[in-house]
Amino acid sequence: MTISASVLGADLLRLGDEVEKTRRLGLRWLHLDQMDGHFVPNISFGPEFVAALRGATDQFLDVHLMLEHPLSYIDAYADAGADLISIHAEAQDNPAEALAAIRARGLKAGLSIKPATDPESIRALLPLCDLVLVMTVEPGFGGQKLMDGCVAKLPVLRKMIEETGRDILLEADGGIKLENAERVIAAGADVAVIGTGLFRAEDPERVVREVEGAAACAL
Ligand code: DX5
Ligand code: ZN
Repeated sequence: MTISASVLGADLLRLGDEVEKTRRLGLRWLHLDQMDGHFVPNISFGPEFVAALRGATDQFLDVHLMLEHPLSYIDAYADAGADLISIHAEAQDNPAEALAAIRARGLKAGLSIKPATDPESIRALLPLCDLVLVMTVEPGFGGQKLMDGCVAKLPVLRKMIEETGRDILLEADGGIKLENAERVIAAGADVAVIGTGLFRAEDPERVVREVEGAAACAL
């Protein structure tokens, strides 16, 4: 199991220290939320932010595009040094085309679904994915409460992934904290995105230790 530290939850005034903290904690993935003010009612960082992080760390950069038109930005994020780009199934661009464009740049391709989206609707796209990202809150903001109905989608997707016979990671994003991480992992997540639950925790070391411990028990 992998924890992907969501930088949206970090203290942006001390970004370098926050990244250093994730490294000290032994975290190999950073989750970078990109928002366009259309697909979600919020605006966040752009490709320059991803490039700045690329220059500062060799951690795996897990870029989550909450954009209506991801196709026009794939090259910019690839040039910025993303390792994986996830697009949304609900965006305006054709998801198959966007996933192919990500892979054509030699990156891992992820497909994300919002809380109201039925997992069945992405079955045909699974062969084009290296990762499926299940939103466990409405996308747009950090610090929200985990939606139990979304956790219930994880075993469904796990089974759909197994049926493809392919090596596709399952990532859960939103509202994951020390108190509920065990449930998310037991439901089948390989990657748990944690933002405020990590960066704003009193004892982040304990969060990592206990979440990783819960994952080891779930094996
Ligand atoms: C929400 C983002 C999440 C967010 C998670 O739209 O996709 O990645 O940063 O933050 P927490 O862990 O605080 O819910
Ligand atoms: Zn995210």
